[in-house]
Amino acid sequence: MADKKKLYIRTYGCQMNVYDSERMAEALGAGKDGYELTENLEAADMILMNTCHIREKAAEKIYSELGRFKGLKTAKPDLKIGVAGCVAQAEGAEIMRRQPAVDLVVGPQTYHRLPEMMQAVAKGEKALDTDFPEEDKFENLPVRPKVKRAPAAFLTVQEGCDKFCAFCVVPYTRGAEVSRPTARILSEARALVERGVREITLLGQNVNAYIADGITLAGLIHQLAEIDGLARIRFTTSHPNDMGDDLIAAFGTCDKLMPYLHLPVQSGSDKILKRMNRSHSAAQYLQVLERIRAVRPDILISGDFIVGFPEETDADFQATLDLIRAVNYGQAYSFKYSSRPGTPAAERALVDADVADARLQELQALLSVQQKAAQDAMVGREVSVLFEKPGRLKGQMIGKSQHLHAVFVAIPDGPDAPVVGDLRRVRITESSANSLGGVLID
Ligand code: 5AD
Ligand code: SF4
Repeated sequence: MADKKKLYIRTYGCQMNVYDSERMAEALGAGKDGYELTENLEAADMILMNTCHIREKAAEKIYSELGRFKGLKTAKPDLKIGVAGCVAQAEGAEIMRRQPAVDLVVGPQTYHRLPEMMQAVAKGEKALDTDFPEEDKFENLPVRPKVKRAPAAFLTVQEGCDKFCAFCVVPYTRGAEVSRPTARILSEARALVERGVREITLLGQNVNAYIADGITLAGLIHQLAEIDGLARIRFTTSHPNDMGDDLIAAFGTCDKLMPYLHLPVQSGSDKILKRMNRSHSAAQYLQVLERIRAVRPDILISGDFIVGFPEETDADFQATLDLIRAVNYGQAYSFKYSSRPGTPAAERALVDADVADARLQELQALLSVQQKAAQDAMVGREVSVLFEKPGRLKGQMIGKSQHLHAVFVAIPDGPDAPVVGDLRRVRITESSANSLGGVLID
């Protein structure tokens, strides 16, 4: 039997792209002519880039990478190159114009059509599909393969965004908010658990806007919590305005819901929040967090920040630092504003680049201190760790705590040694730059 053709996928951007890459690999792997995954670029018969359009740098990087892949095609003329994800959606045919070596462009809502598209590509044609189709792509994707899985998995439950923040391309690249039916999510989750998954992170661009047949994200979480063998549930990314009462309450009532919440605010200045079209004030954001902390005092809060948004003054920036001090973040992601064509903010005058750079540095310095303090505060505490893989040192394993801290544990030999997928109690003994160290308790 001839060897299967090899597919190399490179994933950029958010966790939803990680999930989509898995599903695209499954779609391309199905059937007798299907591809199998390789991690070796040189061995690939097809290279698929699953791209991110969120900031200019991310999008431009795709073109420079494509330039490199083109060289591989000179040596191997049958090599196929595909571009998927948000750059594909946003730029469509322009990608093939800028880089003629590209054979295929597929958007995030049409990748269930990849097998047909590949038939055209096999004939030497170009294939492009960036529709927002009527049909549900998940329903048209192959059944997920019955293979053993890593203990932590992503599961997309909601896509798209109706919020139209003035800086953001997502409403254009991912389309309007759509939630998947609860029953289908539950059956996908059960199948993941049968294959070894113990922790599921529910994904959506606005995951807490999830609503399907009257079932909210909190309702979905409570139903998922009934699945035996599923030990942990997380969700990301949320919008402050969609933190419903039932979702806040779930942090206090659902043991399987982990004490970690990524809740971007972007800015602490009400003037900038208004110009960003965020539809909430800094005080409203703080109130939401206060209510969550009342039911789950140990919750670790994570956020996203943009500095240098058009017309951001020093006073606006100070308001962001004040908000950060008030919240005390355990994790955070911060970015310099990047003007994106087609978004409302792209029309506005930019803040001086040096000023924006200096603000980003100051903000990141403050956030790092908070993150390190949150991590250091774990020393001496007992946490539960879901073991994900062996560490680099012999006899060591790495897992994640409830708060999503990476934890390295030295494992004594013996019958009680944990294996990948086990959840065990660990006492934290040290905190280093980006991880914790600990010892097994039982
Ligand atoms: N410039 C900089 N950062 C952005 N983000 C989204 N759009 C932009 C932009 N134009 C950031 C926001 C968002 C995260 C995913 O990326 O902080 O929450
Ligand atoms: Fe990138 Fe946003 Fe698209 Fe995710 S949704 S791939 S972060 S542009």
